[in-house]
Amino acid sequence: MTSDTTVTQTITLSTREDETWWRQAAVYQIYPRSFADFDGDGIGDLKGITARVPYLAELGIDAVWLSPFYPSALADGGYDVADYRDVDPRIGTLADFDELVTALHAANIRVVVDIVPNHSSDQHAWFQAALAAGRGSAERGRYIFRDGRGEGGELPPSDWVSMFGGPAWTRVADGQWYLHTFATEQPDFNWDAREVRDDFLATLRFWADRGVDGFRVDVAHLLVKDLPAELPSQAEIDAMDAASGSHPLLDRDDVHEVYAEWRALFDSYDPPRTAVAEAHVSNPERRARYASATGLGQAFNFDLMGADFDAAQFRAIVTDNLAQADLTGSSSTWVFSNHDATRHATRYGLPPARGTGKKAGTAWMLAGAPREELDIEGGLRRARAATMFLLGLPGSAYLYQGEELGLHEVGVIPRDRRQDPAYLRCADTREWSFDGLGRDGCRVPLPWRSEGPSFGFGPRGAHLPQPAWFAQYSVEAEDADPASTLNLYRRALDLRHRLQSAERLEWVETSAPEVLHYRRPNGWEIVTNFGAAAVALPAGRIVLATEPVTDLLPGETTVWLAP
Ligand code: BGC
Repeated sequence: MTSDTTVTQTITLSTREDETWWRQAAVYQIYPRSFADFDGDGIGDLKGITARVPYLAELGIDAVWLSPFYPSALADGGYDVADYRDVDPRIGTLADFDELVTALHAANIRVVVDIVPNHSSDQHAWFQAALAAGRGSAERGRYIFRDGRGEGGELPPSDWVSMFGGPAWTRVADGQWYLHTFATEQPDFNWDAREVRDDFLATLRFWADRGVDGFRVDVAHLLVKDLPAELPSQAEIDAMDAASGSHPLLDRDDVHEVYAEWRALFDSYDPPRTAVAEAHVSNPERRARYASATGLGQAFNFDLMGADFDAAQFRAIVTDNLAQADLTGSSSTWVFSNHDATRHATRYGLPPARGTGKKAGTAWMLAGAPREELDIEGGLRRARAATMFLLGLPGSAYLYQGEELGLHEVGVIPRDRRQDPAYLRCADTREWSFDGLGRDGCRVPLPWRSEGPSFGFGPRGAHLPQPAWFAQYSVEAEDADPASTLNLYRRALDLRHRLQSAERLEWVETSAPEVLHYRRPNGWEIVTNFGAAAVALPAGRIVLATEPVTDLLPGETTVWLAP
């Protein structure tokens, strides 16, 4: 470790109980099934993560966000939760979880867990009880059951389409139908039921008591619904104003009554627990409600995910989001990649129309791409420059496992190995927004070593097939290469602790429109050349560069200048 790292750790230790740790944290998302497999069953596990805590500490992140690790039939990669207060036996035990939290905290890394409140798994005890208890029962009242249309109720209550394609209603044995916004195996809860609200409060308390520092709230905008007796059609729903606060299905004003209760619970802890909303809403003002201090406190901003590698787009998005953060008192969030999106090295290696989100609100559901269409080197060069631009910004940075290796999306996965319901439900019909290869390509288990079974992911195979080219992106290979993306991330995350200061930036005007230059209040400067041609290098002490620089700033390159 360098002396810079030592300085960083001292700072972190002295602010351990700081209530504002999250405001400018670098949060690393772990998709547990694909991170590291300790027991050799092909599925990543908690012991695998614990064994890699030294790796996470050396990377220099401030927190990890664990995607769901709860018992699940894996109809949607774990976002179909069968028991909110336990660990999937394939992933470990509660004792393994406690051990992981202890190890992460000892390394000054905070822990954020994913909460999935809109729907459970159809294997959840409550849903099984609802099926058994029959129509009109209190058990059915925890979910959204309706009688069908048509003489014998044989038609679904409405023509609604699920987010993963196909109908949003499924019929059960006694003829009633239940609503599922996502896959058939993910029945939506009825958030009007007090019992549902109380049960989630108990779940949040359960994990907060185990030492969890914060929560990532899945599809936070969908929980509360207001369904009239006569249901509108899908076309009518689509034509409704999603920003009205009274839309029947999404982003309703009254969903914030739920989060006010959650906030009271979070604030009863010392330090208060944090939360970040995944809320796909129609405008910044609507997003701000989730980020409010009386609500969840922070909300994901996915705007950069939908942007091209383009100076004007980046500048407008940053300016807007910092202005919003000022208004809400929250800090801004920045993200390029997660478990739902094509990896950004690949997005930036595709022609713009294939590489970016085309539909408002669905930028996160980007299409995958076969490898032959890809500018592999260019995509990674742009991704490195973009990420170093992002890591200098005020606010929190959310990073996704594998991006620190510069991993590309895995485009080629045989159909019979694919797992993503968004792919499987849409692949034939190409309906709705999943018109590509789905989300498996960013969920392929990580390569830790350059050879051996599953590239060191575990002692045996991996639950999704890894391509041969993973070898050159392995942790082992990159660790040994000073110019690797891994070492670039390590250096940047280390420096970032000193770069971060007051949550502001000042744009420095440049002579070239394709160059963005900003200065933080403590004098650190970030300069990104989004163009292809080299430009004059700004004056200053360069402490980080994404490509070798001489007396010019090459195209598609970012540099950091220290005061
Ligand atoms: C998660 C997805 C999941 C969906 C349904 C999303 O927001 O990030 O991975 O499929 O919610 O739970």
